[in-house]
Amino acid sequence: MARREFSERSDRIVATEPVEVRRYAGYTRFNHWFTAALIIALILSGFALFTPQLFFLTALFGGGQSTRFLHPIIGVVSCLSFLLLFVQLWRLNIMRREDLVWARHIGDVLTANEENLPELGKYNLGQKMVFWGMFWLLLAMIISGVMIWQQFFADMISIEVRRWAVLVHSVSAVLMVLVIILHVHAAIWTRGTINAMTSGRVSGGWAWRHHRKWLREVANRQDTPPAE
Ligand code: HEM
Repeated sequence: MARREFSERSDRIVATEPVEVRRYAGYTRFNHWFTAALIIALILSGFALFTPQLFFLTALFGGGQSTRFLHPIIGVVSCLSFLLLFVQLWRLNIMRREDLVWARHIGDVLTANEENLPELGKYNLGQKMVFWGMFWLLLAMIISGVMIWQQFFADMISIEVRRWAVLVHSVSAVLMVLVIILHVHAAIWTRGTINAMTSGRVSGGWAWRHHRKWLREVANRQDTPPAE
């Protein structure tokens, strides 16, 4: 029989239902994946127009002319869809003091040494930077995109200004691709995160490990709505 040095005889690990925490409601998840699908279509159609080497991508959109026609429309709809997501999420993406502490311990973040990290709310600084990066880049892309939408706005913009707009549009698009690669990488790299956007739930352990302040607040809430 095992010796008891640190425990009482009656101490037990009791298996119960694992705790799950709801992180995203159904409409937020739908909004996220709808935006993601549109932005991927936007990137593919944009790159198809960007260089002749990628012209073959126009086949996905029914040929050159229809890609040229569809790309700005997909852009406007993507921005509107992102705006809906933005309205739901911006408040919890505001920078806070603990984000600076988190940034100073970036080495511990990369080595998954969470003991030295501060307790965080719903998002960490990396997620917040991705969020604001997406916001500012989409804003730059929609403004510059409208300026080069010659079908409707050709007479309002001089050639000189349009050239600058093309530059802003292309640079923002490349940065957007980099931000999205970072976003997807982080979502896969942090185990259990994809569940947040698929089932809408995360495990209690995930919440405790990565977003303890958020978990504490949810646990202490008196007005918790019934789970779906
Ligand atoms: C296509 C592949 C994508 C995957 C696999 C993915 C995955 C995820 C996951 C798992 C989360 C939840 C993170 C968490 O709650 O901790 C999330 C959040 C989010 N995603 Fe995506 N996503 C993708 C594309 C996009 C795109 C294209 C956009 C918009 C341009 C986007 C915008 C967001 C935003 C705004 C959040 C909320 C995070 C925050 O507010 O800081 N995602 N994504």
